Amino acid sequence: MASGFPSLGRDVVNRAVATQAGTGQTDSVAPPPSGLAQTNPSPVIDVEHVSLSYKMDKADFPVLVDVSVTAYRNEFLMITGPSGCGKSTLLRIIAGLTKPTGGEVKFLGTPITEPRTDIAMIFQNFVLLPWKTSIDNVMFGLSSRQDLSEDRKKEIAENALEQVGLEGFEHVYPGELSGGMKQRVGIARALALEPKVLLMDEPFSSLDDLTAERLRKEIYSLLINPESPIQTVIMISHNVEEIVELADRAVVLSARPGRVVADLPIDLPRPRSRKAEEFQDWVDKLYSFLA
Ligand SMILES: Nc1ncnc2c1ncn2[C@@H]1O[C@H](COP(=O)(O)OP(=O)(O)O)[C@@H](O)[C@H]1O
Ligand SMILES: [Mg+2]
Repeated sequence: MASGFPSLGRDVVNRAVATQAGTGQTDSVAPPPSGLAQTNPSPVIDVEHVSLSYKMDKADFPVLVDVSVTAYRNEFLMITGPSGCGKSTLLRIIAGLTKPTGGEVKFLGTPITEPRTDIAMIFQNFVLLPWKTSIDNVMFGLSSRQDLSEDRKKEIAENALEQVGLEGFEHVYPGELSGGMKQRVGIARALALEPKVLLMDEPFSSLDDLTAERLRKEIYSLLINPESPIQTVIMISHNVEEIVELADRAVVLSARPGRVVADLPIDLPRPRSRKAEEFQDWVDKLYSFLA
Protein backbone atom coordinates (compact mmCIF):
# COMPACT_ATOMS: atom_id res chain seq x y z
CA MET A 1 0.00 0.00 0.00
CA ALA A 2 1.51 3.32 -1.03
CA SER A 3 1.52 6.18 1.41
CA GLY A 4 -0.61 8.79 -0.28
CA PHE A 5 -0.51 11.08 2.71
CA PRO A 6 2.94 12.61 2.43
CA SER A 7 4.88 12.67 5.64
CA LEU A 8 4.76 15.93 7.49
CA GLY A 9 7.63 18.34 7.72
CA ARG A 10 9.66 19.73 10.56
CA ASP A 11 7.12 22.40 11.27
CA VAL A 12 4.52 19.99 12.50
CA VAL A 13 6.99 17.75 14.24
CA ASN A 14 8.42 20.65 16.19
CA ARG A 15 4.97 21.73 17.19
CA ALA A 16 4.22 18.29 18.51
CA VAL A 17 4.43 18.18 22.25
CA ALA A 18 3.79 15.65 24.91
CA THR A 19 2.43 17.29 28.02
CA GLN A 20 2.76 15.34 31.24
CA ALA A 21 -0.77 15.05 32.57
CA GLY A 22 -1.40 17.37 35.45
CA THR A 23 2.12 18.77 35.72
CA GLY A 24 1.84 21.18 32.82
CA GLN A 25 5.36 20.19 31.83
CA THR A 26 5.99 19.87 28.15
CA ASP A 27 8.44 17.53 26.46
CA SER A 28 9.35 18.46 22.94
CA VAL A 29 9.52 15.54 20.60
CA ALA A 30 13.01 15.16 19.10
CA PRO A 31 13.25 17.00 15.78
CA PRO A 32 13.49 14.83 12.68
CA PRO A 33 16.93 14.10 11.20
CA SER A 34 18.30 17.03 9.27
CA GLY A 35 17.78 17.01 5.54
CA LEU A 36 14.05 16.31 5.79
CA ALA A 37 12.23 18.38 3.18
CA GLN A 38 10.76 21.50 4.70
CA THR A 39 7.09 21.54 3.93
CA ASN A 40 4.58 24.16 4.81
CA PRO A 41 1.62 22.27 6.18
CA SER A 42 -1.65 24.14 5.95
CA PRO A 43 -4.22 23.77 8.71
CA VAL A 44 -7.59 22.44 7.60
CA ILE A 45 -9.32 22.10 10.98
CA ASP A 46 -8.28 24.30 13.91
CA VAL A 47 -9.73 23.43 17.30
CA GLU A 48 -8.89 26.48 19.39
CA HIS A 49 -9.20 26.37 23.18
CA VAL A 50 -12.44 24.45 23.06
CA SER A 51 -14.26 23.79 26.31
CA LEU A 52 -17.62 22.21 26.90
CA SER A 53 -19.62 21.85 30.11
CA TYR A 54 -23.11 20.53 30.68
CA LYS A 55 -25.34 22.01 33.35
CA MET A 56 -26.36 19.25 35.77
CA ASP A 57 -28.60 20.22 38.70
CA LYS A 58 -27.32 23.76 38.33
CA ALA A 59 -23.70 22.58 38.76
CA ASP A 60 -21.24 22.58 35.87
CA PHE A 61 -20.27 19.17 34.50
CA PRO A 62 -17.09 19.82 32.52
CA VAL A 63 -16.49 17.44 29.60
CA LEU A 64 -13.73 19.18 27.62
CA VAL A 65 -11.29 21.78 28.97
CA ASP A 66 -9.19 24.05 26.77
CA VAL A 67 -8.65 21.56 23.94
CA SER A 68 -6.53 22.82 21.04
CA VAL A 69 -5.79 20.51 18.10
CA THR A 70 -4.92 21.26 14.49
CA ALA A 71 -5.51 18.84 11.63
CA TYR A 72 -3.36 19.62 8.60
CA ARG A 73 -3.88 18.99 4.94
CA ASN A 74 -3.12 15.41 3.92
CA GLU A 75 -3.15 14.28 7.50
CA PHE A 76 -4.79 11.25 9.08
CA LEU A 77 -5.26 12.47 12.64
CA MET A 78 -6.46 10.13 15.35
CA ILE A 79 -7.81 11.07 18.76
CA THR A 80 -7.91 8.72 21.71
CA GLY A 81 -8.54 8.83 25.44
CA PRO A 82 -10.37 6.95 28.20
CA SER A 83 -14.05 6.16 27.84
CA GLY A 84 -16.24 9.16 28.64
CA CYS A 85 -13.43 11.72 28.24
CA GLY A 86 -15.30 13.66 25.57
CA LYS A 87 -14.00 12.20 22.29
CA SER A 88 -17.40 11.92 20.64
CA THR A 89 -18.34 15.32 22.00
CA LEU A 90 -15.22 16.84 20.45
CA LEU A 91 -16.01 15.25 17.07
CA ARG A 92 -19.59 16.55 17.21
CA ILE A 93 -18.22 20.02 17.93
CA ILE A 94 -15.90 19.78 14.90
CA ALA A 95 -18.89 18.64 12.81
CA GLY A 96 -20.85 21.72 13.91
CA LEU A 97 -23.47 19.53 15.62
CA THR A 98 -22.69 20.69 19.17
CA LYS A 99 -21.75 24.22 20.21
CA PRO A 100 -18.75 24.52 22.54
CA THR A 101 -19.18 26.61 25.69
CA GLY A 102 -15.73 28.11 25.11
CA GLY A 103 -13.31 28.48 22.21
CA GLU A 104 -14.05 27.73 18.58
CA VAL A 105 -13.33 25.44 15.66
CA LYS A 106 -12.28 26.74 12.27
CA PHE A 107 -12.40 25.10 8.87
CA LEU A 108 -9.81 26.69 6.55
CA GLY A 109 -9.87 29.72 8.83
CA THR A 110 -13.66 30.12 8.97
CA PRO A 111 -15.46 29.44 12.27
CA ILE A 112 -17.75 26.40 12.16
CA THR A 113 -21.14 27.33 13.56
CA GLU A 114 -23.34 24.66 11.98
CA PRO A 115 -22.95 21.44 9.99
CA ARG A 116 -21.34 21.98 6.58
CA THR A 117 -21.55 19.87 3.46
CA ASP A 118 -17.76 19.75 3.14
CA ILE A 119 -17.39 18.04 6.53
CA ALA A 120 -18.87 14.54 6.71
CA MET A 121 -19.20 12.28 9.72
CA ILE A 122 -19.32 8.51 10.04
CA PHE A 123 -20.84 7.38 13.30
CA GLN A 124 -19.87 4.40 15.42
CA ASN A 125 -23.15 2.56 14.94
CA PHE A 126 -24.20 2.42 11.32
CA VAL A 127 -27.15 4.79 11.49
CA LEU A 128 -28.95 3.53 8.39
CA LEU A 129 -32.65 3.86 7.69
CA PRO A 130 -33.90 0.25 7.91
CA TRP A 131 -36.71 0.81 5.42
CA LYS A 132 -34.38 2.07 2.72
CA THR A 133 -32.10 -0.01 0.50
CA SER A 134 -28.33 0.60 0.39
CA ILE A 135 -28.59 2.92 -2.59
CA ASP A 136 -31.54 4.82 -1.10
CA ASN A 137 -29.62 5.22 2.17
CA VAL A 138 -26.69 6.71 0.26
CA MET A 139 -28.97 8.91 -1.87
CA PHE A 140 -30.76 10.06 1.29
CA GLY A 141 -27.45 11.59 2.38
CA LEU A 142 -27.60 13.69 -0.79
CA SER A 143 -31.16 14.97 -0.21
CA SER A 144 -29.99 18.49 0.55
CA ARG A 145 -28.16 18.71 -2.81
CA GLN A 146 -30.83 20.47 -4.84
CA ASP A 147 -28.27 21.19 -7.53
CA LEU A 148 -28.18 17.49 -8.45
CA SER A 149 -30.79 15.65 -10.52
CA GLU A 150 -32.14 12.32 -9.21
CA ASP A 151 -30.26 10.55 -11.98
CA ARG A 152 -27.02 12.21 -11.01
CA LYS A 153 -27.57 11.36 -7.33
CA LYS A 154 -28.16 7.75 -8.31
CA GLU A 155 -24.95 7.73 -10.31
CA ILE A 156 -22.94 9.20 -7.41
CA ALA A 157 -24.48 6.72 -4.96
CA GLU A 158 -23.74 3.76 -7.23
CA ASN A 159 -20.16 4.91 -7.60
CA ALA A 160 -19.75 5.34 -3.81
CA LEU A 161 -21.16 1.86 -3.15
CA GLU A 162 -18.79 0.44 -5.74
CA GLN A 163 -15.85 2.20 -4.05
CA VAL A 164 -16.59 0.46 -0.75
CA GLY A 165 -17.01 -2.92 -2.46
CA LEU A 166 -20.81 -3.12 -2.36
CA GLU A 167 -21.49 -3.51 -6.06
CA GLY A 168 -24.46 -5.85 -6.37
CA PHE A 169 -25.86 -4.88 -2.95
CA GLU A 170 -27.51 -1.63 -4.07
CA HIS A 171 -31.04 -2.90 -3.58
CA VAL A 172 -30.56 -4.78 -0.32
CA TYR A 173 -32.03 -3.55 3.01
CA PRO A 174 -29.80 -2.96 6.06
CA GLY A 175 -31.46 -5.86 7.91
CA GLU A 176 -30.00 -8.25 5.34
CA LEU A 177 -26.46 -6.87 5.60
CA SER A 178 -23.66 -7.92 7.97
CA GLY A 179 -22.21 -5.38 10.41
CA GLY A 180 -19.22 -4.80 8.15
CA MET A 181 -21.44 -4.24 5.13
CA LYS A 182 -23.68 -1.82 7.03
CA GLN A 183 -20.63 0.16 7.99
CA ARG A 184 -19.58 0.14 4.31
CA VAL A 185 -22.93 1.70 3.41
CA GLY A 186 -22.32 4.34 6.10
CA ILE A 187 -18.89 5.04 4.60
CA ALA A 188 -20.36 5.20 1.07
CA ARG A 189 -22.92 7.73 2.29
CA ALA A 190 -20.10 9.94 3.58
CA LEU A 191 -18.01 9.51 0.40
CA ALA A 192 -20.97 10.43 -1.81
CA LEU A 193 -20.94 13.87 -0.22
CA GLU A 194 -17.39 14.36 -1.53
CA PRO A 195 -16.35 16.01 1.73
CA LYS A 196 -13.05 17.81 2.26
CA VAL A 197 -12.94 16.60 5.85
CA LEU A 198 -14.01 13.16 7.01
CA LEU A 199 -14.78 12.61 10.69
CA MET A 200 -15.07 9.04 11.96
CA ASP A 201 -16.17 8.08 15.46
CA GLU A 202 -14.77 4.62 16.26
CA PRO A 203 -15.97 3.33 12.89
CA PHE A 204 -14.57 -0.18 13.31
CA SER A 205 -15.12 -0.74 17.03
CA SER A 206 -18.35 -2.71 16.77
CA LEU A 207 -17.02 -5.06 14.09
CA ASP A 208 -15.35 -8.40 14.67
CA ASP A 209 -11.53 -8.37 14.43
CA LEU A 210 -11.20 -9.86 10.95
CA THR A 211 -13.88 -7.64 9.41
CA ALA A 212 -12.41 -4.58 11.10
CA GLU A 213 -8.92 -5.45 9.91
CA ARG A 214 -9.98 -5.80 6.29
CA LEU A 215 -12.20 -2.72 6.27
CA ARG A 216 -9.48 -0.63 7.96
CA LYS A 217 -6.97 -1.46 5.20
CA GLU A 218 -9.48 -0.86 2.43
CA ILE A 219 -10.75 2.41 3.85
CA TYR A 220 -7.27 3.72 4.41
CA SER A 221 -6.26 3.13 0.77
CA LEU A 222 -9.55 4.63 -0.37
CA LEU A 223 -9.07 7.80 1.64
CA ILE A 224 -5.44 8.33 0.70
CA ASN A 225 -6.22 7.90 -2.97
CA PRO A 226 -4.98 11.11 -4.64
CA GLU A 227 -8.25 11.31 -6.58
CA SER A 228 -10.23 11.50 -3.35
CA PRO A 229 -11.51 15.00 -2.52
CA ILE A 230 -10.85 14.27 1.17
CA GLN A 231 -8.01 16.44 2.48
CA THR A 232 -8.06 15.48 6.12
CA VAL A 233 -9.36 12.60 8.17
CA ILE A 234 -10.01 12.86 11.90
CA MET A 235 -10.79 9.53 13.49
CA ILE A 236 -11.57 8.59 17.08
CA SER A 237 -10.33 5.25 18.33
CA HIS A 238 -9.74 3.57 21.66
CA ASN A 239 -7.72 0.85 19.95
CA VAL A 240 -4.03 1.68 20.32
CA GLU A 241 -2.87 -0.83 17.68
CA GLU A 242 -5.36 0.64 15.22
CA ILE A 243 -3.93 4.11 15.88
CA VAL A 244 -0.33 3.04 15.31
CA GLU A 245 -1.41 1.28 12.12
CA LEU A 246 -3.28 4.23 10.62
CA ALA A 247 -2.37 7.58 12.16
CA ASP A 248 0.00 10.24 10.89
CA ARG A 249 -0.50 11.86 14.27
CA ALA A 250 -2.16 10.84 17.52
CA VAL A 251 -3.74 13.12 20.10
CA VAL A 252 -4.39 11.67 23.55
CA LEU A 253 -7.00 13.17 25.85
CA SER A 254 -7.01 12.76 29.65
CA ALA A 255 -9.89 11.20 31.57
CA ARG A 256 -12.93 13.51 31.81
CA PRO A 257 -12.74 16.43 31.70
CA GLY A 258 -10.74 15.82 28.53
CA ARG A 259 -7.55 17.83 28.05
CA VAL A 260 -4.79 17.20 25.53
CA VAL A 261 -2.03 15.19 27.24
CA ALA A 262 -0.08 14.23 24.11
CA ASP A 263 0.09 15.28 20.47
CA LEU A 264 2.53 12.97 18.70
CA PRO A 265 3.50 12.50 15.05
CA ILE A 266 3.68 8.77 14.30
CA ASP A 267 6.54 8.73 11.87
CA LEU A 268 6.61 5.00 11.11
CA PRO A 269 7.05 4.17 7.42
CA ARG A 270 4.13 2.56 5.61
CA PRO A 271 2.94 -0.07 5.17
CA ARG A 272 3.19 -0.68 8.89
CA SER A 273 3.64 -4.12 10.31
CA ARG A 274 2.19 -4.88 13.70
CA LYS A 275 5.05 -7.31 14.24
CA ALA A 276 7.78 -4.67 13.84
CA GLU A 277 9.63 -3.66 16.98
CA GLU A 278 9.10 0.07 16.31
CA PHE A 279 5.38 -0.59 15.97
CA GLN A 280 5.31 -2.12 19.45
CA ASP A 281 7.39 0.77 20.80
CA TRP A 282 4.70 3.17 19.60
CA VAL A 283 1.96 1.02 21.10
CA ASP A 284 3.78 1.09 24.47
CA LYS A 285 4.31 4.83 24.21
CA LEU A 286 0.64 5.54 23.56
CA TYR A 287 -0.40 3.21 26.38
CA SER A 288 1.85 5.13 28.75
CA PHE A 289 -0.20 8.27 28.10
CA LEU A 290 -3.45 6.40 28.59
CA ALA A 291 -2.43 4.74 31.85
N1 LIG B 1 -26.21 15.71 26.34
C1 LIG B 1 -25.45 15.42 27.41
N2 LIG B 1 -25.77 15.89 28.65
C2 LIG B 1 -25.01 15.61 29.71
N3 LIG B 1 -23.86 14.90 29.66
C3 LIG B 1 -23.48 14.42 28.48
C4 LIG B 1 -24.23 14.65 27.29
N4 LIG B 1 -23.59 14.06 26.24
C5 LIG B 1 -22.48 13.48 26.77
N5 LIG B 1 -22.42 13.69 28.10
C6 LIG B 1 -21.35 13.24 29.00
O1 LIG B 1 -20.14 13.77 28.52
C7 LIG B 1 -19.07 12.88 28.78
C8 LIG B 1 -18.30 12.63 27.48
O2 LIG B 1 -19.10 11.88 26.58
P1 LIG B 1 -18.53 11.39 25.17
O3 LIG B 1 -18.07 12.56 24.40
O4 LIG B 1 -19.57 10.53 24.57
O5 LIG B 1 -17.26 10.51 25.63
P2 LIG B 1 -16.36 9.47 24.81
O6 LIG B 1 -16.78 9.51 23.39
O7 LIG B 1 -14.95 9.92 25.03
O8 LIG B 1 -16.58 8.13 25.46
C9 LIG B 1 -19.70 11.61 29.36
O9 LIG B 1 -19.50 11.66 30.76
C10 LIG B 1 -21.14 11.74 28.99
O10 LIG B 1 -21.94 11.09 29.96
MG1 LIG C 1 -17.57 8.09 22.11
